[in-house]
Amino acid sequence: MNQRDALQVIAERRSIRRFQDRPIPKRLLEEVLAYTVMAPSAKNAQPWRMVVLEGDEASQLARMMQQRADELAEAGADSGSLAWTARVVAQAPVTIVLFNAAPPTEMPARFHDDYHWVMLQSTGGAIQTMLLAAQALGLGSLWICDILYIDDQVRQWLGHPEDALVAAVSLGYADEAPEARPRRPWQEVTEWGRDSS
Ligand SMILES: Cc1cc2nc3c(=O)[nH]c(=O)nc-3n(C[C@H](O)[C@H](O)[C@H](O)COP(=O)(O)O)c2cc1C
Repeated sequence: MNQRDALQVIAERRSIRRFQDRPIPKRLLEEVLAYTVMAPSAKNAQPWRMVVLEGDEASQLARMMQQRADELAEAGADSGSLAWTARVVAQAPVTIVLFNAAPPTEMPARFHDDYHWVMLQSTGGAIQTMLLAAQALGLGSLWICDILYIDDQVRQWLGHPEDALVAAVSLGYADEAPEARPRRPWQEVTEWGRDSS
């Protein structure tokens, strides 16, 4: 991939919420995962842990999200975009759940918040790397934090009770080609330091 290709991948990535009814070949999925772990991480700790869900398990995740959305609606509570995202998960051939590994057992509890704060950034970087790798390999993706509505349930279900749930990523062949979503211009969100020329 040359420089132009890399920038094109960044510019052309979109959140995809409609996928074709077409499986992702295992080799391609493995390639996405192999690129994902090339992300940088604090002290090269590589805190990310991933669980790949396909078939019945992926459908089960979508049902769990939908059920939580229904419970919240019944209770008159806000469930944001949860039901909407559950439908995307139901449709995607693959959803990958990402955790941050629990702090090492020897680490004193007073450092745990700092550990999670730093490691969360590392796993965030891995997620973005995953989205860009998927885009470069011809797949669409959606970064999903609505899964946090069922945080405890997912950690127990997938056997990661001690790890922190970070997000999920749905992957598949895109069945839509959305326009770029608006961005504030970088000039609006950037201040130059005093010594910049
Ligand atoms: C941390 C994070 C969490 C997100 N969670 C969700 C989600 O739960 N459901 C969803 O439909 N989109 C989710 N998105 C996608 C954003 O809505 C999307 O990135 C944003 O609207 C910009 O659109 P674009 O990705 O097409 O540029 C999330 C994105 C990020 C970075």
